[in-house]
Amino acid sequence: MTRKKLLRFAELEGMENVVDGRRSVPGWFERIFGHVRAVHLDLGCGHGDSTLAMARRLPGSWFLGVDRNGGRLWKGARRALDEGLSNTMFLRAPVETLKEHVPPGRVKTIWTLFPDPLSKSRQSKHRLVSPGFLVGYRRLLAPGGAVHLKTDDPVLIDFAERAVRQIGGKVSEGWANFQSYEGEGTVSHTTFERRYRDQGRVIYQRTLWL
Ligand SMILES: C[S@@+](CC[C@H](N)C(=O)[O-])C[C@H]1O[C@@H](n2cnc3c(N)ncnc32)[C@H](O)[C@@H]1O
Repeated sequence: MTRKKLLRFAELEGMENVVDGRRSVPGWFERIFGHVRAVHLDLGCGHGDSTLAMARRLPGSWFLGVDRNGGRLWKGARRALDEGLSNTMFLRAPVETLKEHVPPGRVKTIWTLFPDPLSKSRQSKHRLVSPGFLVGYRRLLAPGGAVHLKTDDPVLIDFAERAVRQIGGKVSEGWANFQSYEGEGTVSHTTFERRYRDQGRVIYQRTLWL
């Protein structure tokens, strides 16, 4: 590991806007978000581009970016601290462990922006939109809450739509029921979205009602 990465990991440990899922104290979520009716989750947030863009645009709402990659998470957390964004937190943990951290019914929207497509069929249950994950998200969502998915991968869209129907949910095109983070004065595209748009790829958006 490079010295720069080691320094970032060391800094991550002490950042006030980062919870390390491996060492977190039970009940941390309510200690931080207890005063908030519902939180918005950005799953696989990477560098936190979308978490930060939404937090800037909606200062009265609360955002939790989740990623297992500490190096990426460091970037988002560092930028949030530098900008003084007090309505955003980051959780370093696998999405698989979310139920250990987030109590049921406390989430308003879940964002999965450009999740890894994991194209081999043996990897399908690890896709963040597989039926197993969706059932877990349903438990976290408050009434009226939904999952927003964005990807350049038509196979993943098809997979997600089938997974939603399999668990008895519905899919709509675009993003319903949320003031989009895209707009004037915000970072409108994540690192991966910029990359795919530069390559001329079609971008798909769906709202998953679970
Ligand atoms: C393709 S990147 C997209 C990042 C960001 N959403 C964007 O649009 O730029 C996928 C991210 O999901 C994270 N990720 C994938 N599977 C995960 C899991 N099971 N738990 C936590 N993070 C995960 C990866 O570490 C990576 O940062």
